[in-house]
Amino acid sequence: MNNTAPIGFFDSGVGGTSIWKEVVQLLPNENSIYLADSRNAPYGEKSPNEIIALSRKNTEKLIEMGAKLIVVACNTATTNAIDFLRSSYPVPFIGIEPALKPAATNSIGKSIGILATKGTLSSELFAKTSGLYASNIHIIEVVGEGLVKLIEEGKKDSSEMETLLRNLLAPMLKAEIDYLVLGCSHYPYLTPKLKEILPESVKIIDSGEAVARQTKRILEKFDLFNISGQVSKHKLFSNSNSEVLANLVGEALNPSIEVSYLEF
Ligand code: DGL
Repeated sequence: MNNTAPIGFFDSGVGGTSIWKEVVQLLPNENSIYLADSRNAPYGEKSPNEIIALSRKNTEKLIEMGAKLIVVACNTATTNAIDFLRSSYPVPFIGIEPALKPAATNSIGKSIGILATKGTLSSELFAKTSGLYASNIHIIEVVGEGLVKLIEEGKKDSSEMETLLRNLLAPMLKAEIDYLVLGCSHYPYLTPKLKEILPESVKIIDSGEAVARQTKRILEKFDLFNISGQVSKHKLFSNSNSEVLANLVGEALNPSIEVSYLEF
């Protein structure tokens, strides 16, 4: 494997760029390619078999494009398809799961909220993780129905979003949660709005930093660090409206970032 090959990322859409940003920040010497499968978003409403089929399609495209390692920047795809991907393709995979463990361990009131897709909350992997780390905790699980659609439409800061979030968070406020786990890679883009709605004492956690650290560990383990010293390049592709993607990653401000439309 060529060490200058890019790290590959995929998500059901633009949300996984919240993870991509953390990885790029921690590993500034690495090249990257990112596939936003926005045409098929949201994954959260699909069956496990459909999610596996879409994850295979994205993985095969990334391998064809030369990815040396793949970050599944989507909780829904990870919780439903990562075992299948790991046993089917010869590249290392990093997955992303809701950060239940730190929230459950640190919660003082033993009441935490999790906002994620239906596909993640109903997965076997999620059931296993919550059984392992959060069996003595009151977990308020809320399906973030409609959130991904608005983010994909570039409406993360809209009043429509605010109304939707207030409705979704109401049961969590009632249960006096002290941690909110963001179990979907689109949701970190909602953090400013979530902070406006939740009391200051509620801590909001996502999995971005943990994924970046794990990516670094795996590159080290397989001796895959890019040590070429060349300026890194980031190529992001959307199979739908690439403008929303370009805005979220700040293409206009950074010459090393290139966003374009791609059929995949
Ligand atoms: N960004 C995704 C996740 O982390 C999927 C959202 C969706 O497509 O429903 O779960």
